[in-house]
Amino acid sequence: MVALTSCLVVADCECGFIAPRNGYLNDDLFFTNMMESKFFEMKDISRDGTWRRQQYNVSARAGRGEYGKAFAPDNVFTIAEDGDATESADSSSIGGDGIGLVVGSTVMNEAIPVAELDSARNDMHYGSYRAGMKLTAVNGTCAAFFWYFNDTQEIDMEFLSREFDPVKKIYPVNLVIQSEASRKAGYDASKTGTFKVVNLTFDPTIGFHEYRFDYLPSRVLFYADSKLLAEMNGTSVPSGPGHIILQHWSNGNPLWSGGPPTEDAVLTVSYVKAYFNSSNAIIQESAAESCRRARGDGSDSSNNDRVCTIADVTAANASTGGTFFNTSDPNKPSSGGGDDESGAVRLGKTGQTMASVMLLVLMIACL
Ligand SMILES: *[C@@H]1O[C@H](CO)[C@@H](O)[C@H](O)[C@H]1NC(C)=O
Ligand SMILES: *[C@@H]1O[C@H](CO)[C@@H](O)[C@H](O)[C@H]1NC(C)=O
Ligand SMILES: *[C@@H]1O[C@H](CO)[C@@H](O)[C@H](O)[C@H]1NC(C)=O
Ligand SMILES: *[C@@H]1O[C@H](CO)[C@@H](O)[C@H](O)[C@H]1NC(C)=O
Ligand SMILES: *[C@@H]1O[C@H](CO)[C@@H](O)[C@H](O)[C@H]1NC(C)=O
Ligand SMILES: *[C@@H]1O[C@H](CO)[C@@H](O)[C@H](O)[C@H]1NC(C)=O
Ligand SMILES: *[C@@H]1O[C@H](CO)[C@@H](O)[C@H](O)[C@H]1NC(C)=O
Ligand SMILES: *[C@@H]1O[C@H](CO)[C@@H](O)[C@H](O)[C@H]1NC(C)=O
Repeated sequence: MVALTSCLVVADCECGFIAPRNGYLNDDLFFTNMMESKFFEMKDISRDGTWRRQQYNVSARAGRGEYGKAFAPDNVFTIAEDGDATESADSSSIGGDGIGLVVGSTVMNEAIPVAELDSARNDMHYGSYRAGMKLTAVNGTCAAFFWYFNDTQEIDMEFLSREFDPVKKIYPVNLVIQSEASRKAGYDASKTGTFKVVNLTFDPTIGFHEYRFDYLPSRVLFYADSKLLAEMNGTSVPSGPGHIILQHWSNGNPLWSGGPPTEDAVLTVSYVKAYFNSSNAIIQESAAESCRRARGDGSDSSNNDRVCTIADVTAANASTGGTFFNTSDPNKPSSGGGDDESGAVRLGKTGQTMASVMLLVLMIACL
């Protein structure tokens, strides 16, 4: 039972998370689960179990581009606190702490080196999804933060660096829902009602800003620094669970990504915060159970309802995302918590097996 207390990595939030109503939402949003990743503190993304660096190739033809795309794990790297990239030759041009996703300027076998990082879990249903990002000023890439189920159920925030014009101070973001309608339009969402280009009010290549979308029943709201950019609603909005993707790519298509870039281009992601409902019945039940347990343990007389309120992020705190509910150290191997393991060592062999089972249960409960 020692182990039970360490589930409190999400201290006091056992009963879920509220995104408070704002000028755009009529009601508070309520979610039971979360996933928070402090990329700005992480020293080695390859050791993190929450995220998966992708490896696959897309031919020019399949990607409807002039070049293919070569997604490789090495193109996703951690930028340590001192500004050094662990796997990048030149870190001086990166200049921020977080995960770097690089689009290389050296075309190999007619493919452009590109980067993708996916959440390992794919039970992410209705939710509020947020990322602190600094975009590249290098012409010729597409940076994307999106939720994905399949090609007709996808919610995207996409940034085309060729559209950034520092002289005229124009910085558009493309907001897209891919749907059955966009499939019928040859995946050109601009021919559907769920495509909007919005001009940002700041230069997204200079500092970190928080990009967010709330995926709700029949409704999606897009934000930058907690200010509404657009709302989309209706039958094109997805309805199922999916996963979160960070992507930085180029395929030479002059109508979209442009490129290839003439120098390596880096997208830096400082953090991701996701508050959502899981589509997994076991995880739903264990969330409900940990709420019942927390409210019922009587150890807390402060009348705490164990629901945490999510604070907005502005440009002032998007480089580190402000407060996190997840207090785990991102540089410790992800288990239910270090204390469980040291506790388990003192037990005998059967105890150890029991502890491992407990740990597994807790890991699910803590998700
Ligand atoms: C998330 O799940 C909870 C518990 O089932 C429910 O009360 C809430 O309305 C759901 N949130 C959304 C946005 O659907
Ligand atoms: C992708 O293509 C490159 C050559 O361009 C090759 O070296 C690599 O093995 C391929 N990767 C996969 C996952 O097929
Ligand atoms: C995506 O999933 C939905 C629901 O399962 C399905 O109806 C649709 O055909 C799928 N789209 C693609 C492109 O596979
Ligand atoms: C980016 O490059 C494309 C192609 O060379 C060019 O048309 C476009 O004007 C450039 N964008 C900016 C902002 O300079
Ligand atoms: C964005 O700015 C450009 C240049 O000023 C303008 O042409 C365009 O209409 C603006 N887009 C929106 C959605 O306001
Ligand atoms: C749908 O979105 C539009 C903005 O695109 C908004 O004006 C309208 O109120 C929304 N409708 C509903 C039912 O949320
Ligand atoms: C971000 O900063 C604002 C004030 O600048 C503060 O109100 C908010 O709570 C902070 N957000 C988080 C998540 O800490
Ligand atoms: C909390 O952070 C740790 C370390 O980065 C990570 O392994 C874990 O998945 C996170 N848990 C949640 C619920 O976000």
